[in-house]
Amino acid sequence: MTFEITKLDYEGRGIAYQNGKVCFIKHALPQEVVNGALLKEAKKYAIYEAKEIIKPSSIRTESFCPFATKCGGCVFSHVSYENSLKLKQEMLKSLFQKELSYEKEIPIIPANKSLGYRNKINVKVRKGKLGYYKEESHDFIPIRTCFIASPVIQNLLKDFSLFSFQDGELIIRINTNEEILLDIITKEPVKIAQALTANHKIAGISINHKCVYGTPFFYMNINHTLYKVHEESFFQTNFFIAQKILTDVLSFFEPNDIVYDFYCGVGFFSLPLAKKVARVLGIEENPKAILDATYNASLNQITNASFHVGKVENIIDKISITGNKVLVDPPREGLHKNVCQLLNAQKFDQIIYISCNPKTLVRDYKKLAENYEIISLKAYDMFPFTKHIECVALLNKRKNVIKEE
Ligand SMILES: C[S@@+](CC[C@H](N)C(=O)[O-])C[C@H]1O[C@@H](n2cnc3c(N)ncnc32)[C@H](O)[C@@H]1O
Repeated sequence: MTFEITKLDYEGRGIAYQNGKVCFIKHALPQEVVNGALLKEAKKYAIYEAKEIIKPSSIRTESFCPFATKCGGCVFSHVSYENSLKLKQEMLKSLFQKELSYEKEIPIIPANKSLGYRNKINVKVRKGKLGYYKEESHDFIPIRTCFIASPVIQNLLKDFSLFSFQDGELIIRINTNEEILLDIITKEPVKIAQALTANHKIAGISINHKCVYGTPFFYMNINHTLYKVHEESFFQTNFFIAQKILTDVLSFFEPNDIVYDFYCGVGFFSLPLAKKVARVLGIEENPKAILDATYNASLNQITNASFHVGKVENIIDKISITGNKVLVDPPREGLHKNVCQLLNAQKFDQIIYISCNPKTLVRDYKKLAENYEIISLKAYDMFPFTKHIECVALLNKRKNVIKEE
């Protein structure tokens, strides 16, 4: 089937129409004519994969990765970094225009490195080979390396033969000091050659979350705040962009603010915020991350931050909410409906919404729009060459909204 691509959807797929039906074509660019192979046919739409580029876009280049179209992670590997940014900005603009009639320009902050930026990867191991699952499937795609991973991680992948297991998963992360934390998930007995710890800066190795070498945590140093991070705790994946976001987010706060940090992780935002505002209360469901956050407060001599473990949507009924601002940084699924309800009932002065999924940001904002308005919206290229975009939205309580006591 031949398609003429008009623009990209928010997932970086080409959009074309066939007999009135919308078709999404993977690996195609705007203004291209491509032949596509059908992947999925639904009532209202169909998904294709570009197999032959009949008329290429003027911005199409050679992909930097031989595995890109197979693993599906780097949907923009076949354009320059500058053009990938323009495409992402365009994708965001049309999403916010279409869904929220938001007409303002959305600035996008570029990364310092377009490759080698990821401080964590999660690779699968099948029959002794490394690979990723193809997006939205369990199809194993063998890879030799991953160009968006930090060079330290790529270097470790070259020594994969030093691990003895054939099937499972390898989670590799590095800290700001380029030390490595490894977690091996497998049902097999694992032997690790001594050369691994001799040749690489290993802080710790766990097998099925049980530490067998070094420590199950390491430390990060971001803008003069020290964070202990357990191997099972979340940490922002791109150090450079995380620092940019942190600096911008801090600028929204004043010394008298009392702030809720929903989905706080190890306190990435809570702790530097606590140095600036009167009080911070963090909520997070992962007990390991909450232990880290509590420890990190004392590690940084911070006494005005406290942390509660639990799902935000369950815990908010049990604590008395007295703060004037709230920062939310939910996973890709966005905010639970109870959380939106609380934000509407509580009528905070400001909500700072950090989002790794513009689609759920838009969905959640629709629920909040009666009480809050978007004052600023900025995008950050946390994950260059992939379809993902991080956004920070500053929402102010609408002027006509009165807080019920
Ligand atoms: C995108 S991360 C942000 C973490 C933190 N703000 C940071 O910058 O490091 C989302 C966090 O939300 C936590 N989480 C996911 N669902 C949750 C829920 N329903 N309630 C509380 N925390 C949740 C995850 O464990 C993760 O730490």
